[in-house]
Amino acid sequence: MYLDDIPLQRGTLFAAVYDSPIAHGKIISLDINEASQSPGVIKVIAAKDIPGENQIGGIVPDEELLAHEHVHFCGMPIVLVIAETEEFAREAAKKVKAVIEPLHVITDPREAKAKNELIIPPRTFRCGDVAQAWKECQHVFSGRADSNGQEHLYIETQGAYAIPMENNSIRIFSSTQGPTAVQRCCARVLGYPMHRIEVDVTRLGGGFGGKEDQANAWAALCALGVHHVKRPVKFSLHRMEDMRMTGKRHPYSSDYKIGLDKNLKIIAYEVDFYQNAGAAADLSPAVLERTLFHCTNSYFIPNVRATAYSCRTHLPPNTAFRGFGGPQGMFVIESAIAKAAEEIGVHPDEIQKKNLIQTGDKFPYGQSAVSDAVECWNEAEKIYDVRKIRKEVETFNSKNFLFKKGMAFIPICFGISFTKTLMNQARALVHIYTDGSVSVATGAVEMGQGINTKILQVASKIFSLSPAKVRIQPTSTDKIANTSPSAASSTADLNGKATMMACEKLLERLKQRAAEELKTTPEKISIKDEFVYSNDEKTKLTWKDLVMLTYVSRISLSEHAHYATPEINFDLTKEKGHPFAYHVYGTAILIATIDCLRGTYEFDAVKVVHDIGSGMSPMVDLGQCEGGIVQGIGWMTMEEIVYDKDGRLRSNALSTYKVPDVYSVPKEISVKFLENDNNNLAVFRSKAVGEPPLMYGIGAFFALRNAIKAFNPAARPVFSSPMTPEKVLMSLHKKPVAEVQKTI
Ligand code: MOS
Repeated sequence: MYLDDIPLQRGTLFAAVYDSPIAHGKIISLDINEASQSPGVIKVIAAKDIPGENQIGGIVPDEELLAHEHVHFCGMPIVLVIAETEEFAREAAKKVKAVIEPLHVITDPREAKAKNELIIPPRTFRCGDVAQAWKECQHVFSGRADSNGQEHLYIETQGAYAIPMENNSIRIFSSTQGPTAVQRCCARVLGYPMHRIEVDVTRLGGGFGGKEDQANAWAALCALGVHHVKRPVKFSLHRMEDMRMTGKRHPYSSDYKIGLDKNLKIIAYEVDFYQNAGAAADLSPAVLERTLFHCTNSYFIPNVRATAYSCRTHLPPNTAFRGFGGPQGMFVIESAIAKAAEEIGVHPDEIQKKNLIQTGDKFPYGQSAVSDAVECWNEAEKIYDVRKIRKEVETFNSKNFLFKKGMAFIPICFGISFTKTLMNQARALVHIYTDGSVSVATGAVEMGQGINTKILQVASKIFSLSPAKVRIQPTSTDKIANTSPSAASSTADLNGKATMMACEKLLERLKQRAAEELKTTPEKISIKDEFVYSNDEKTKLTWKDLVMLTYVSRISLSEHAHYATPEINFDLTKEKGHPFAYHVYGTAILIATIDCLRGTYEFDAVKVVHDIGSGMSPMVDLGQCEGGIVQGIGWMTMEEIVYDKDGRLRSNALSTYKVPDVYSVPKEISVKFLENDNNNLAVFRSKAVGEPPLMYGIGAFFALRNAIKAFNPAARPVFSSPMTPEKVLMSLHKKPVAEVQKTI
C-alpha cells in the first residue's frame, strides 16, 4: 500500500502549486483572480493565509512554505490551489499571475562563498600540526575536485494525503522517511499542537534521503488545504514537478593539498569544501558535518585541517542523499591520492594500501578506529586474485587499441550513528495478543531497504516464534512518538534494539509466569519454537497457553521500550568526540572497459569485501550492497544534473537525466561479507548496510580515469564527476593524442 494506493474518501480534493519560474526575485504583485475562477477550484491559498508560521526550516528557520516577498529558487511554491480534480488544480495553478522582479542568481558555491553567503559559519576539523608537517613531506600536491549532485529518483514521487478527523485533528498519510518531522512541520505551519496531527506511513517507493526532510512541504500544503476547506486534500507530485521543486545530493567543489613522505605515507592533508547548499539550509549543516567526518575516508592521516563552507545559492535546497555528504568528502581524498600517484608515478593503490587506518589510530575528530580497514583490503586482494586481474587488464590493454580497461580500488569507511547525538534514540511498542500473535510498532519506515524484515527477525528470534505470528505495523506517530527519521543507516540498529528490549521484558514476564506454573524458577525456563522448556526439557506448555495464562493472571502483555545508543558523544566547541557507535569498512575493486572511439563504457566487474559484523539478513544486506553500488556508479558516471546560469534545471525529466538501467549495471557484482564475532553496538552485531555500499561507486570514476590513461598516458582528466561518456571522449583526445597515434 503506497500513498497512491490509499482509497480516496468521498469529497477528496487535490492540490497543485504555482511555483516560481525564476531562481531569485522580489514578488511585486500576485494576481489569483483568474486562478480562483478556474473550473473546479475550491480555494486558492497564499502565504498570508497560513494560520501558523510560514516556516519549514528544521535546522535553520530560513525556508518559507509559500514564498511571501521573495523567491529563492526555481520551483519554490508561491500559491497553493485546491480543486475538485488534479487536472483542475494544475490548470488553475497555471493561471496565477505573478510579477517578479529578477535579482542576481548565484548557482556556484564558490561565488556564494566569495560573497559571504553562508548558511552557517564554516567548520574546521583539525588534528596534528599541518603547517609543520608540510616541511617533512617529500611530495606535496594540490588541486581541485568537483562532484555533482544526484537526483534521488525514488520510483514513488513525493506526496501526501491529509484527512480531517474528529476534534479538529488531521490524519496525514505521507511518503516520508520522517513521520515526526512531518508532524512537527504541519503543526508549526497550522499553529496546532502536535497531538492534533497524526502521520501514518505504510511504506515508501524509495527514499534515499530525499524524503528525510523534503516530504514535509507537501504534507504541510495538504494540511493547510484541510485547515481551510475542511475536506480531505491530496497532493502527489508529477515526476517533472518533483525533479524541479525538490533538492538533490549536494554538489561540492573542493580544493585539496596532500603531502607524502618518501615511503608514500600521507602525513598531511588540507581541504576546503564548498558545499552547494541551495537556497535554504534544509539538512545542509548536518550533511556538511558528515563530509568533515569522512574527509580522510579509510586512511590514517596524522596532520589534517579540513574546512567546510555551506554556501547559499539559488538552487532548490539540497538535502540528504544516501551517504549524506560522506561520499563527497571521500571523492576529494581519493582524487588527491590519484593525483599524487600520477605525479609520483606509482599505482594509486600503492598509496591507498599503505595508509589504511588501523585499530587504535585516531580519526581527525578524535574517535579511535576499532576494526581494521586493512582486513577488508587484504581479503579482497586474496580472494579476487588481484595480481591476476592486474595482469589481465595489462594484457588486454596491450592487445587492444580502441578498447581499454582500467581498474581501481576503493576502500570505504562510514561512521554509524546520526552525527547529532540526540537523534540516536528509538522506541518500540510490542503487544502479544491472547492467541499468541504479536504486533510490533516502531518508528522505522520501510522504504524498500528491508527494515520490516529485520524488525520481524528480532521479535521472532527473541520469542522463538514463527515469523508468521509476528506483524510489523505501519509507522504512525500515534503509536510511536518523537521518532528520528529512518536515515543515517541507523534504523535497524535503533529500532531493532528498542524492539529487542521490549520483547526481552515481555519474555521475562512470561518466563516468570511459566516458572510459577511449572513450579520452578524463571532462570530454568526457556522458550523454543513455541514450546516452554524447563531445565532444557520440553514441557506440554505451549507459547499460546503461556500467553493465555499470563493474561488470565492479569499481567501485562504489552511493552513500550526505549533505546538510546550508549557511549556516543561529540563536543562541538572542540570538534572532537566519539560520534559513532561503530564504523563500517569495506574494499571494492572495479574494472571498466572504455570504447576509445565513442567514449562509452561498461563495468566488467565490481568485486567487494564488505564488513558486516555478523550479518542477520544476508539477502537484504546483499540487496543493499548491489543497489548502493549501482546508485554510486550512477552518481559518478552517467547521472548529470544540469542547471543553467539562471538556476533553471535543464536535466528535468528522465529523457535528459540518465540513471543506470539493466543494461548499464556491472556485468558482475560479487560481494563477500567479512564476518566476525567482534562485539559492536549493531543489532545482533549485524552492522548497518544502508549507505556504505554506495561509496564503492566512487571507484567507478577512478577505474574510468585509469582506462583513459591506458589509452593516452599523457591524459590528465580533471577530477570532476560525473565521468560521462562525453567527458571520457574529451579526455581521451586532448592534444597529446597525436603523439599517441604516431607511436601506434
Ligand atoms: Mo539518509 S541520506 O541519512 O536519509
